[in-house]
Amino acid sequence: MSPKIQIKKLRGIIQDHNYRYYILDDPTISDGEYDILLNELEKLENINPDLITLDSPTQRVGSTPIAEFGTIDHRIPMLSLANAMNEDELVAFDKRMQKGLNHEFIEYMAEPKLDGLGVELVYEDGLFVYGSTRGDGFTGEDITHNLKTIREVPLSLRTQEIAHPSLLEVRGEVFIRKDDFNSLNQTQEKNGIPVFANPRNAAAGSLRQLDPKITAQRPLSIYCYELGTIDGDAFQDHASFLIALKKWGLPVNPFIQLVTGSVGLTRFHVDLETKRNELPYEIDGTVFKINNYNERGNLGTRSRSPRWAIAGKFKAQQATTIINGIDIQVGRTGALTPVAKLNPVYIAGVTVTNATLHNQDEIDRKDIRIRDTVLIERAGDVIPKVVKVIIGKRPNNTSPFKIPNTCPVCNHPAFRPDGEVILRCGNISCPRQIKGRIQHFASKLALNIDGLGKMIVEQLVDEGLINAIDGLFNLKYESLVELDRMGEKSATNLMGAISQSKESTFARFIYALGIRNVGEHIAKVLEKEFSGNLVEFQKANLEALENIDEIGPIVAETIVQFWSDDSNKIMVQNCLDKGVELAEIKINRKQPFEDKIFVFTGSLEKLTRRDAKDMVEDLGGKASGSVSKNTDFVVAGPVAGSKLKKAEELGIDILTEEDFLKMVRLE
Ligand code: IVH
Repeated sequence: MSPKIQIKKLRGIIQDHNYRYYILDDPTISDGEYDILLNELEKLENINPDLITLDSPTQRVGSTPIAEFGTIDHRIPMLSLANAMNEDELVAFDKRMQKGLNHEFIEYMAEPKLDGLGVELVYEDGLFVYGSTRGDGFTGEDITHNLKTIREVPLSLRTQEIAHPSLLEVRGEVFIRKDDFNSLNQTQEKNGIPVFANPRNAAAGSLRQLDPKITAQRPLSIYCYELGTIDGDAFQDHASFLIALKKWGLPVNPFIQLVTGSVGLTRFHVDLETKRNELPYEIDGTVFKINNYNERGNLGTRSRSPRWAIAGKFKAQQATTIINGIDIQVGRTGALTPVAKLNPVYIAGVTVTNATLHNQDEIDRKDIRIRDTVLIERAGDVIPKVVKVIIGKRPNNTSPFKIPNTCPVCNHPAFRPDGEVILRCGNISCPRQIKGRIQHFASKLALNIDGLGKMIVEQLVDEGLINAIDGLFNLKYESLVELDRMGEKSATNLMGAISQSKESTFARFIYALGIRNVGEHIAKVLEKEFSGNLVEFQKANLEALENIDEIGPIVAETIVQFWSDDSNKIMVQNCLDKGVELAEIKINRKQPFEDKIFVFTGSLEKLTRRDAKDMVEDLGGKASGSVSKNTDFVVAGPVAGSKLKKAEELGIDILTEEDFLKMVRLE
């Protein structure tokens, strides 16, 4: 068999399995077997790159992030839905429809209202060509690269049962299933990244990524539910349209059903509300749409919503209970968060015992006190919130609650940066912060201690071998070698890496300390300003710091605050006493790249991006991630994409990597 036929056959088989899995919910092979097929296809395509097509299942994740979102106009506006707040309003809706259409017993398509994000998929000649967000209803953002990563979105329409139309614009909702959401948050937590508040936020954040590789790791799902435009096919009603969608391989919610009249509406609504918590995804109501397309046309639309459809809202998931106490939780970055401990209360299928109170401002605004009776709400969020205090039920002798000014974990004073609402523990050796701090201290752009990964740091802290950053320099080979999964060789290497890290620079060391708002760039600015003199830097007051170009009042304040804490000064002194030496910085008087902005795009062959950036900065220039009219030079390697194009359009000087190297050497 020729590779061409082999590839075509494999693609067909994979598409069939997708269809069986996502549309029929009846897979005939395991995930592992599916992956083998995909690998086989990938291998064949690697050998025959000219046979790769855009709709090949291997092409779901693009290799380069996009520079920014383009926009896409919807051919037909994406309208929203009017609401019915209760069953009476659903009955009233049916009455309006009867009157408008002049007949009884109207047929509706009844659907769950998914709590995700509305999107539009566009298929031309059966191929998925682009997809967009709803945006303002008329124009949305181009998120084609991210929608392609969703396996349920067919890259080409199936034609085994019915032919595809020449143009199809179909609307649907992208969402994340509850169990997928929980595993996603567990992974976030394990990696020390903030968790998402609810599945909707997670789905929204995932769709707004410039890099499709990130989106591909998010467990997004989609159900299609509405027609935008279609050419070459006419449907009499919504039911037949949904059947056609399934035949083309587009996913449709199996829960959708036809109902008749006001009894049909209210029964579906009440029934779905009781089942709400058993569904595998979050919903925030029901949607009812007239089934017959002629009838829809006769009723028409208002400016923002069609007359022929309505969304039925569910009752809020609320209950009242008593606050027994308020705990202060300390996050990994030192943020102190007040959490109300509640008398357990059952809200829509879940027993709630905690509610977040966010911060002091929130507590003051709602005047929340211990022993208060409060109204609690679950709104799809992970942690329920307090809606309000029932003041009438407040017992005597309560007093306003103030978050204590010390960290409950380490008793160190906490501080609240100007203009911020969150109180933070100021102790960088606080047991809740220490693991993250050490990891950051050892990271590549900081002291670059090779071999000191997350697992080792956890063990070091858990075993009590280290309880402050400078403790790193007291570690002994004998205790390292005892750790789990640590052999003699790794222990020796790690000891070597720690000792090597002592020869560092001012900028790296300052960055390593993890002062809030002081990233690697600001650290370099400070290095230049203070000529690498730590003592001068520690003495600098607000005014002196604010006078430095690129340092604003917020950064200045965090720096002053950091050094006002003696324990930080002591920790730094300990590092120096234990042998940390910060190389003298060469002051480059001649700054040939002063004020020049460089953008690197495409793959560089001789330099890493980081080296290139360092070179530019050493010569007084700046490296930026995006091309604009302020850009002076674009250095383009092979496979440069949209940035190069933009640079050409703007008439910006374009250099090869070789040109750039010459320029650096000559000047
Ligand atoms: S139909 C003209 N069906 O709800 C009808 N929308 O307020 C347009 N939604 O933006 C939408 N589930 O994102 C429709 N089964 C469903 C839906 C649904 C969720 C969202 C959609 C839309 C919003 C309408």
